[in-house]
Amino acid sequence: MKKCRFFVVFILLAFANMLCAGEGMWLPLLLKALNEEEMQSMGMKLTAEDIYSINKGSLKDAIVHFGGFCTSEIISDQGLLLTNHHCGYSAIQSHSSVENNLLKDGFWAKTNSDELANPGLFARFIDRMEDVTEKALMGVTDDLSSEERQSIIDKNLDAIKASYELSEFEDVIIRPFYHGNQYFSFVTVTYNDVRLVGTPPESIGKFGSDTDNWVWPRHTGDFALFRIYAGPNNEPANYSEANKPYNPKHSLPISLDGVEEGDFTLVFGFPGRTNQYLPSSAVEQIVETLNPAKISIRDSALKIIDGHMRADESVRIQYASKFARVANYWKKWIGESQGLVSTGAIAKKKKFEEEFLNKNADNPEIRSILPRFEKLYKANEEYAFTRDYYSEVASRNIELLSLTGIMNRLIDRYENNGRDDYNSYLQRVKGYLEGFYKNYRPEIDREVFASLAKMYVENVNPLYTPESLKVANRDMENFAKGLYSQSSFADPNKMMGILSLPPESAIEKIKTDPVFMLGTEWSNLIDAKVNAPYNRNKTQIDELQRKYMQAIIETFPKKRFYPDANSTMRISYGQVNGYQPRDGVTYMPVTYLNGVIEKYKPGDYEFDVHPKLIELSESKDFGEYADSNGDIPICFLGSNHTTGGNSGSPAIDAHGNLIGLNFDRVWEGTMSDINYDKSICRNIMVDARYVLFIVDKFAGAGHLIKEMKLVHPKAN
Ligand code: ARG
Ligand code: GLU
Repeated sequence: MKKCRFFVVFILLAFANMLCAGEGMWLPLLLKALNEEEMQSMGMKLTAEDIYSINKGSLKDAIVHFGGFCTSEIISDQGLLLTNHHCGYSAIQSHSSVENNLLKDGFWAKTNSDELANPGLFARFIDRMEDVTEKALMGVTDDLSSEERQSIIDKNLDAIKASYELSEFEDVIIRPFYHGNQYFSFVTVTYNDVRLVGTPPESIGKFGSDTDNWVWPRHTGDFALFRIYAGPNNEPANYSEANKPYNPKHSLPISLDGVEEGDFTLVFGFPGRTNQYLPSSAVEQIVETLNPAKISIRDSALKIIDGHMRADESVRIQYASKFARVANYWKKWIGESQGLVSTGAIAKKKKFEEEFLNKNADNPEIRSILPRFEKLYKANEEYAFTRDYYSEVASRNIELLSLTGIMNRLIDRYENNGRDDYNSYLQRVKGYLEGFYKNYRPEIDREVFASLAKMYVENVNPLYTPESLKVANRDMENFAKGLYSQSSFADPNKMMGILSLPPESAIEKIKTDPVFMLGTEWSNLIDAKVNAPYNRNKTQIDELQRKYMQAIIETFPKKRFYPDANSTMRISYGQVNGYQPRDGVTYMPVTYLNGVIEKYKPGDYEFDVHPKLIELSESKDFGEYADSNGDIPICFLGSNHTTGGNSGSPAIDAHGNLIGLNFDRVWEGTMSDINYDKSICRNIMVDARYVLFIVDKFAGAGHLIKEMKLVHPKAN
């Protein structure tokens, strides 16, 4: 009972104490209680009901979870879907070949029948959400162990799920919020026929590539267009030629009026994961131990790969996507650590903790949370470090070792379930390996192995190092040479040959392969000596985090607290804003086409510019898409709180119109996952007018523009 009450109280007192505008990823369902007033004071002309309603079409009906990993939005009454180029990347890549390279040249369907199907890609709507905390926590009392507690909750959640009547394409998802203090259910509707409609060439959609990734000033047209198709009654349906464009409950009109510093912005999407309520001891560990380890490993791997990519064009193509993936978070972590230090995040957390302790002066139980955290994080440090080190070295960066897990699963299938299951999994393994070897160079991987395995031996407690690797470290390069020449894993023909043998012989060959033996020895050691104690500590840490979250909310009843991101639908709001990355430097919030031309490096794989775009820029054939200064706006900055998963989220103006498309954050502010700081945390959006300009003037796809509703909200 008590638990339910404190949430009601905290909602009622919400406005007594405002957060700095910009911070927070809010639940659409609670906007009325928590945010509407502040949003309107910042210039928003909408009501909470216009944004999220279960009674009428509202903005939320245009917001779509794209494949479960990105956000997208509906921009026409024929189901036209806008998302990022980098979100559609693998779909675009899958339709590309050397003769018909959609990545390089772009693609624009002239009619519906030219649009390209993408098996496996789905578009998911949220029909409604509900607070189910009371039912989820029924029977849960304070004296339960965390296992007992979880088992009661699991049963409750099953019962809640069973109480929904759902049709074939509906589902219900229940997620914990506030670290297990609250539960919400989401009824989803999933469309499985999502087709590619249009994409600019990479030189626009990925302009600046890794050099500009996470960076302002930015000039990337990171967008692509898809379309949702539905069955005869506008219902979800599996792919069929007979399907028709989906007619949505709501689609976003697009503003032609652009943005100015200070304009209200709302970002609506599916942020993945944040950690806003960590104790200072945990943040310290990230800054001092975990991030530096992960960064240093990727440093080494990226240097080796980069050298080969620069020396050989075919390697560059093979490794481009891998390199981008590894470099993305490498760069993010560097920015995150620097931002945490430069804004004094740890000192800020410590100050907050002091206040928390003071306010709980007469509650020893609550006061004990922080020292207990400290002890647990200390106790877990070596395990957390080793886990990260192992995963970066053996699962994420040494490519051959990453195959060990897959082979172990294949063997398990045979040993536990028999031949049929083995054969069905084998098909998947073969498919995976085909893609793997297509973009694989053993001589590069061998160099990565030598460098990273050496780092592992030298930086990780020898207790967690396989014996064979300790011996190998006397001459790691030589060891790597032997390993890569003896292992069948390094040779696609040998590997595929083994997999075509009868299961018994194949398994025998796999089990005696030196890469498999090393990989398995290593992962078993980590499981037994690192993961087991890590998980025991982690369960206690999670339990403590739930209590800490509850105590924070009760200790500061006048403050609003937003739940950490968990891939559920959220709203962040802020303003168009530049920032000062360092002393003496101020960044403007908008970039223009002339900046694309400034960055232009003919022939460069990151900064080449398409001749047609140069021509348009010179002839100033901008139509109605130019800004008041006569140039085409490209990207703009906002103080909206976003994270991974918010890619493709719409940026919406005060009236509910689309003004841009979220795709990144600035490097200095990537720490916003842990500590949002208004001074440097900014999200980066493509200006909607650049999207329209490219579709209309660059691609000549005026028929798509005709589908959209273009508006002039500022004129009225
Ligand atoms: N930093 C952006 C996001 O996580 C964009 C990543 C894709 N672009 C790239 N160059 N890797 O994730
Ligand atoms: N590019 C990120 C994504 O793919 C969004 C940027 C961020 O992390 O804020 O979701």
